[in-house]
Amino acid sequence: MTAPEQSDVASLVETDRVHRRVYTDPEIFVLEMERIFGRAWILVGHDSQVPEPGDWIRTSIGLRDVVAIRGADGAIRVLYNRCPHRGMTVCVPAKGSGRRLVCPYHGWAFDTAGKLLGVPQPAGYEGGVDAGDARRSMAAVARVDSYRGFVFASLAADGPTLVDYLGDISDTLDNFCDRAPEGEVEAVGLPLRQTFEGNWKLHMENSVDTVHPGFVHRSSVEAAQGHISESGAAEDADQAIQMFNANGFTLNQWDSTDIHGYDGGHVYMDGFYRGGIIDPDRKDPVFQEYKSRMAAAYGEERTNRIFARETFNNLIYPNLSFNTRFQQLRVIRPVSVDRTDIHSYVFRLKGAPEEMFHTAVKFVSTANSPASPVLADDLAVFEQLQLGLNSEGSEWIDLSRRSGREEAFGNRGIRDKATSELPMRTMLGAWRRYMAAA
Ligand code: FES
Ligand SMILES: [Fe+2]
Repeated sequence: MTAPEQSDVASLVETDRVHRRVYTDPEIFVLEMERIFGRAWILVGHDSQVPEPGDWIRTSIGLRDVVAIRGADGAIRVLYNRCPHRGMTVCVPAKGSGRRLVCPYHGWAFDTAGKLLGVPQPAGYEGGVDAGDARRSMAAVARVDSYRGFVFASLAADGPTLVDYLGDISDTLDNFCDRAPEGEVEAVGLPLRQTFEGNWKLHMENSVDTVHPGFVHRSSVEAAQGHISESGAAEDADQAIQMFNANGFTLNQWDSTDIHGYDGGHVYMDGFYRGGIIDPDRKDPVFQEYKSRMAAAYGEERTNRIFARETFNNLIYPNLSFNTRFQQLRVIRPVSVDRTDIHSYVFRLKGAPEEMFHTAVKFVSTANSPASPVLADDLAVFEQLQLGLNSEGSEWIDLSRRSGREEAFGNRGIRDKATSELPMRTMLGAWRRYMAAA
């Protein structure tokens, strides 16, 4: 198969429909890695994962294996995780620490900026080997920047700054951090990892698809409803039960909330959890203590504004999905056209009662862990979707629900009721712009 022409690629996304090749064609996937993941700002980690000089984590930007490492100067750099000698992966574990990176194949050593420190048997090289020789150093990714402790990198030397790239969606990252009395969050532990046999975009689209829960998650909704009707008030139910029950929202209830999209392909949905321990304004002593610590840090008025900014899934294009109220963050990592990894992280709100962290852990366990019946449903759907998309017969996918009913919102944004397919159209609009650009 030859690589699709740019005009070809652009024609695969129309206003209200998209060609199935966008999800199934391996050549398109290769182009996505180059034109989207090779240009956009991609989250590579969080400050708190590499607190000390020499700390590093292994991560990825599209298909490129990279290492985010804190240098002796305190700055975080992102290096291609590839030895300049014979191409070995230099950092094999998920994380580590040390003043030097040493390649496990033949022992070439690099400093925290990737600069060559030395090789075994330098006399074997005509004229010896210069420490710092750029051709023999680990290459650095073109741009690294951070926003409120979230570290992003771009493989492209040119393009918008991180702040411009984020635009108004940065307000949801602010809210993620502002919910901590100390204004900072900290990543805890290594991520939960899941894999599915489907295209990466299916996960992004699904996390802002409000029509699917009532169908796909019906078994856990019904189990929760049964439990609540037997045991009495939902208020008394366990957090997991309340979360399962919330997926039983009717379509009219969904449409009492909004969904928002921005030019850059970023999207977010309003919060929809009500009552009990998932209520945005809980009445229990733990939350009251948390609220009073927030008020002490920010004052009553600002605290109320922070809590009033209630969103659920927030997506930063192309592959980041996070929840501000439960300090959860997922990085969607494309592996091939029909294989995707999901890394789910949980954060601690600095200065909040420890029980708030337990609620966040419970949220992640219930919604995103390998033990989650909700995620199991979604993953099964992604695999069946991929099979459906692979079969010929009908070449186009319909994305027209509530099309044309959006209203302008904020700075270059649009919004509509939550059952709209606005988020899919927004993300695929960005996809089209990246893919069609030379
Ligand atoms: S491949 Fe790294 S030292 Fe040989
Ligand atoms: Fe789902």
